[in-house]
Amino acid sequence: MLYLGIIGYPLSHSISPRIHNAVMEYLRIQGRYLAFEVKPSELKDAIFGAKALGFTGLNVTIPYKEEVLKFVKPVGEAKLAVNTIDLRKMEGYNTDIYGVEMAFKNSKLEVEGKIALVVGAGGAGKAIALALMKMGAKVVLTNRTESRGLEAVRELREYGECIFYPMEKIGELKIDIVANATPVGMKGFSSGIPVPEEILKPGMIVFDAVYNPVETPLIKKAKEIECRVVSGLEMLVYQAEKAFEIWTGIKPPVSLMKKVALEALNFQEK
Ligand SMILES: NC(=O)c1ccc[n+]([C@@H]2O[C@H](COP(=O)([O-])OP(=O)(O)OC[C@H]3O[C@@H](n4cnc5c(N)ncnc54)[C@H](OP(=O)(O)O)[C@@H]3O)[C@@H](O)[C@H]2O)c1
Repeated sequence: MLYLGIIGYPLSHSISPRIHNAVMEYLRIQGRYLAFEVKPSELKDAIFGAKALGFTGLNVTIPYKEEVLKFVKPVGEAKLAVNTIDLRKMEGYNTDIYGVEMAFKNSKLEVEGKIALVVGAGGAGKAIALALMKMGAKVVLTNRTESRGLEAVRELREYGECIFYPMEKIGELKIDIVANATPVGMKGFSSGIPVPEEILKPGMIVFDAVYNPVETPLIKKAKEIECRVVSGLEMLVYQAEKAFEIWTGIKPPVSLMKKVALEALNFQEK
């Protein structure tokens, strides 16, 4: 049996179990992907407990992507944040970066040479910033808590050009891409948008890591203003593709994963 799972807190929004269980069923792999809401005080026990129980791997989500670095060895860029653990080797990977790269690649929108504002400095913020940097964008990162934003920029600078800008001053910037990496707009969290509406301009590229609802308040507003949009659902599906490949060595069917994700979210929206 292949045992996989996701840990986070809270975890009510995750559709990863639906995606990975559908893949295992399609590939006729006997296994189960389960969601575990783990309290902060029990994070270490949860990871080592899953390993002891014979789990192959775990996904890690909000708010533990950086915290788990205390317990696993990061592979490459995962030293910024870990979203996938291979429990057999106690190694941590970051497949969110690949997820963002694929989301932009599929959108066919040009990123090279553009100025990108990334809002958020957690695991998703750092993954999105790095993916955009790798695609040739100049990244400006902002965050509600300045100290955390500055620390994220310090870490990201190892990989290329990236600066911090305080949230209250982002109206001064000339930006081509806005990427949300905060939970603002997520179902059950808030129905707001993470940036002042005035900074959105026609033709701008707007990406939202939030994928539940599929059309987030930011994406809705961006479409009204005639921005070009990239969905967080693409990031979700491609980070899942890469994670499954790390755990099993098998490339899963992405079209099936997208279909299942959309079905799960449409169902949740009703
Ligand atoms: N599409 C995908 O595949 C994908 C992948 C990863 C994450 N995500 C989504 O991305 C979001 C962030 O995830 P994460 O793992 O990076 O979480 P995280 O590590 O906990 O970081 C959260 C970030 O959001 C900021 N934030 C939280 N509440 C805020 C608010 N009310 N106003 C402004 N900023 C706020 C935090 O700022 P402070 O430092 O000030 O607290 C921090 O920068 C989540 O909604 C998650 O579901 C999506």
